[in-house]
Amino acid sequence: RTVYVNGEYLPEDQAKVSVFDRGFLFADGVYEVTSVLGGKLIDFAGHAARLARSLSELGMKAPVDTDTLLEIHRELIARNGIEDGLVYLQVTRGAADRDFLYPDAETPPTLVLFTQAKPGLAEPDRAAKGWSVISIPDRRWGRRDIKTVQLLYPSMGKMMAKAAGADDAWMVEDGAVTEGTSNNAYIVKGDTIITRHLGEEILHGITRAAVLRLAAEAQMKVEERSFTIEEAQGADEAFITSASSFVMPVVEIDGTPIGDGTPGPMAARLREIYLDEAR
Ligand code: PDD
Repeated sequence: RTVYVNGEYLPEDQAKVSVFDRGFLFADGVYEVTSVLGGKLIDFAGHAARLARSLSELGMKAPVDTDTLLEIHRELIARNGIEDGLVYLQVTRGAADRDFLYPDAETPPTLVLFTQAKPGLAEPDRAAKGWSVISIPDRRWGRRDIKTVQLLYPSMGKMMAKAAGADDAWMVEDGAVTEGTSNNAYIVKGDTIITRHLGEEILHGITRAAVLRLAAEAQMKVEERSFTIEEAQGADEAFITSASSFVMPVVEIDGTPIGDGTPGPMAARLREIYLDEAR
C-alpha cells in the first residue's frame, strides 16, 4: 500500500512518524474516515468541514487546504486502486518534547492518510441480517463533538459487544442513548425517525446529516431528541449511520428483538436512498 505522510507518498513500510508525536503520546490529534464507492469519494465536503471544526476547537492549524486534501484523497485512491473502501486521515499537533502544555504554534502538525480496501462495502448482504447491540455506560470525555483519536473506550465497548456475541454497543449517559461506538443511533416509532439532538455529547455524523436531509426530502418525519434503551427496545425499528456502514439496521438491543427482529422498511429505504445518491 502507498500511504501519505507530511507531503510524501511512500510504501507503507517506509512511512515514519516520530516517537515524540503528540498523537502517540497524548492522543492529541483528530481524524476523519471517508468512504469510497466505485472509486468515488463520498461526502468529502462534509468530512473536510468537520475536520476544520475539530482542528479549530483544539486550537490546531490545518496542515494543508481543503483542495490539497481532496487531491491527496484522490491520489491515494488511484495509487492503491481502491474501488470500494475507506480513506483514513489523521492530523496531530506534531512532535515535541513531552509536555502537557502544547508546543509552540510553529510546530509542524503531522498529517497521515491511508486507504483500506473493503470490497463490496455497500453490497446488500452486508445489511441483510442487521446488527445486535448491547448497552454500556458512556465513559468517554465530554467533547465528543470533536473527532479526536482518543478511541480507547469505544474500542473497549466494541470488545464488550463481541464478548456478549453482539455487533456493537450503544452508550448510555444520564439514562439516554448517546451513540454507538463509532456511529449515530436511531429508532423509528410509527412513521417518525428519532435520533439524538446535536450537542457536545455526540459526534455530528456526516452520514447523519445526509440521511436526515434525505429523510426530509422524502417527506419522512424526524424528531431530534434523546431516547432511552427501554424506548428503543419498544420501537418499531432501530438503525445506525456512519461513513463505513452507511445505514445499518439494528435488530436486537440487550437481547430484546426490535419489532419482529428483522431489518425494518424505513432503515432499508434510507439505506437505499443514501446509497443511490452517494453512487
Ligand atoms: N466513526 N459517532 C461516533 C462516535 C463515530 O466515531 C462516528 C464515525 C460517527 C458517525 O459519523 P460519520 O457519519 O461522519 O462517519 C458517530 C468512523 C466511521 C470511525 O471511527 O471509523
